[in-house]
Amino acid sequence: MPVDSATNTSRTTPGTLYVDEDESRFVRGWHGIEDWPPAVRWTGKKALVRIERPTTAPAHFGLRVSAGPAGACGKVELDGCELCSFELEPNETRVVRAPVPARMLARSAGDVEVVLSVARTFVPARVLPGSSDPRELGLAVECLWLGPQDPIDSPMRYERNQERYRGAANDLPIPPARLNELVSGTRDVSWYVAAGRMGFDAILACLARNGVELAELRKVLDFGCGSGRVIRYWKGRGPQLFGSDYNPELVEWCRGNLAFAEFATNELAPPLVYADATFDLVYSLSVFTHLDEPMQEAWMAELARVLKPGGLAYITTHGDHESYLVTFDERERARFDAGLLVVKEATLEGTNTCMAYHPSDYFRRLARVFELLEHEPRGAKGNPYQDSYLLRKPVSSSSS
Ligand SMILES: C[S@@+](CC[C@H](N)C(=O)[O-])C[C@H]1O[C@@H](n2cnc3c(N)ncnc32)[C@H](O)[C@@H]1O
Repeated sequence: MPVDSATNTSRTTPGTLYVDEDESRFVRGWHGIEDWPPAVRWTGKKALVRIERPTTAPAHFGLRVSAGPAGACGKVELDGCELCSFELEPNETRVVRAPVPARMLARSAGDVEVVLSVARTFVPARVLPGSSDPRELGLAVECLWLGPQDPIDSPMRYERNQERYRGAANDLPIPPARLNELVSGTRDVSWYVAAGRMGFDAILACLARNGVELAELRKVLDFGCGSGRVIRYWKGRGPQLFGSDYNPELVEWCRGNLAFAEFATNELAPPLVYADATFDLVYSLSVFTHLDEPMQEAWMAELARVLKPGGLAYITTHGDHESYLVTFDERERARFDAGLLVVKEATLEGTNTCMAYHPSDYFRRLARVFELLEHEPRGAKGNPYQDSYLLRKPVSSSSS
C-alpha cells in the first residue's frame, strides 16, 4: 500500500482504509471533522470507518482520542459488537486499545466496519470563527488503526518517522518520543515538525508586518526553547542563535543535536546566564503560559534586561479563546473578566500541568516596561489559539 509521505497516511481509494501485515495503517491529524478522509464519515455523534483487511491481518484495534473542554465519552463497535468504551476528562488525550476477538474477524472477511460513537457531544455556545479543531465539537480522533501494533507508541514507527520527517525539520535530528511529548503534548512527529515550522513562520510574519528586517537581528534568544522545536528553523538565517530552558534534559538534547545554536539551562526563576543588553530579539512560545504570577513579573523584567535598547520580545499567551474560557470555574471567570491572571495548578509552574491565562489587559500591565507594537489574538501558530505580542524595549530604558 502506498504511503503519502507528506501526510503519513495511506493513499486509499475513497471510503476505505487499509491495513497490511507488517504495519498498521491509520488516519491521523488534527483535521476538522469536515476534513477527514472520505473513509471516515461523521454523522453527528458517529463515525463510520471502513477498513479493508486482508484475511491474515492481526487483530488489534486502537484509537488515539482527545476530548474538548467538556470531556467526552464514547464507545467503539466493530461490525455491530462493542469493542471498548472510554471516558475522557476535559482536554484529556488517550490511546484506547482493544484486541479484536477472532470470532468477529472470522465473521467479517474483507472489509470491516468500525463505528465510533460519542455519548456526550460538546457544542460550543458560539461557533468559533476560523477554527477547525474537532476537539471543540467534543472529540477528535487523531488516529485509528487495526493492525499488529500501536502506530503511535511503537518505537519502530517513531524512529522511522524521525527519519522520514528529518528533511522537513530543516534537516536536523528530531528528539526522542518522550521529549517530543514533553514539549508538544503528543508523540506525533509530523505535528512536532509542522507546528514548529508554523511557530517560526508566525514570528517572521509578525516581524515583517512591523517592518523588522532579519538582517537587523544579530543575536536571537529562544527563551523556554524546549527541545528546539522552533529554533531549528532559524538555522542558516543569519542571526547568532541562543536557547535557554529550565529543563536540563531538553537543553542537553539540544546541545547534542542542534550544534548551530548555543544552549543554556536556567532555574525556574531568573536570572539568565546572559549579560545585560545582549539580544536584538527574544521570543518565548508557550512559556509564560506555564508560570505563576510572581514569576511572570520576574521573567518579564529579566527579558527586558537581556534585550538591547530597541530590542524586540515576541511572547505568546493563552488569551480569551473560548476553549480556555469554558474550563474556568466561576471564580476564575470573574478574575479573567476583571483583567486578572488566572493560574491553574500554580504549584506545578514550569510544567505543562500549570496553566496560566492572560487577559490582554493583564498582559499590557505585565509588559509595561515595553512598548506594545502588536497584539494578535490567536496569532501564535503551532501553539493553537495562543495570542502573540510583539514588544519593543524603549531605547532609553533604566534596565538597559
Ligand atoms: C509548552 S513548552 C514550549 C517549548 C518551546 N517554546 C516550543 O514552543 O516548542 C514550555 C517550555 O517552557 C519551559 N519552561 C517552563 N518554565 C521555564 C522557566 N522558568 N525558564 C525557562 N524555561 C521554562 C519548559 O521546560 C518547556 O520547555
